[in-house]
Amino acid sequence: MSAAEVSAFYDELVAELDRRRAALDDEGATFFNRPLSDRELIEWLSFQAYYEKRAAEFIGRWLADTPEPDAFVLLAQQVEDEAMHYEYCMRALARRGVTSLDGWVPEPEWVEWIDVWYPSGADTIERVAAHNLAGELGACQAFLEIKPRLPEDVQKTFDRIIPDEQFHMRLGRQVIERYATTDDQQARVRERVLHTFDLEQAGRVAYNRRMVRLGLGEPGDAVPPLP
Ligand SMILES: [Fe+2]
Ligand SMILES: [Fe+2]
Repeated sequence: MSAAEVSAFYDELVAELDRRRAALDDEGATFFNRPLSDRELIEWLSFQAYYEKRAAEFIGRWLADTPEPDAFVLLAQQVEDEAMHYEYCMRALARRGVTSLDGWVPEPEWVEWIDVWYPSGADTIERVAAHNLAGELGACQAFLEIKPRLPEDVQKTFDRIIPDEQFHMRLGRQVIERYATTDDQQARVRERVLHTFDLEQAGRVAYNRRMVRLGLGEPGDAVPPLP
């Protein structure tokens, strides 16, 4: 398969995610442009901190099983980035009096998505397809949606994080374009990407359910919960 064909495969996957996301928005997700309350902000930041820490952990576990030399170096860099993102989120929480995630329990959908699915890729292309392609793309788009609702200090935190996440997306593209070159490999990449999208949507629904349960949201709110 030519380099141009592999590149077109990647672009088509991203376009398909965009179409699926647009279709969801058309189905009437209501987005209230009110600022997050302090309590909801703490919930949102706790989710981000949890996700960033888990990302550092599961990418770190992959390193011993990453035979591609360029992917090894890039993923090692990513481990450090995700650990720093965790630290930045914890600092934003500390400014609000929260110093630990002890006692903070993730929703079952988040466990399935972040603790089970992302770590489960069988090889580098499956892992990077799910997390770097689908996951980080969704995260960056979600952040841009929620940014106007965040206080200035948290906007600055995410202004530091987002360029790293964009680097992780480029890293994912490089790895997929280099190593997902057969029909079988591309079929596996596609399956990982589309299932990640479904889990991300379930994660959003779970976030809204949690906010309603905590008395922080209305049924039907569309709150992007992603780092
Ligand atoms: Fe991150
Ligand atoms: Fe990342």
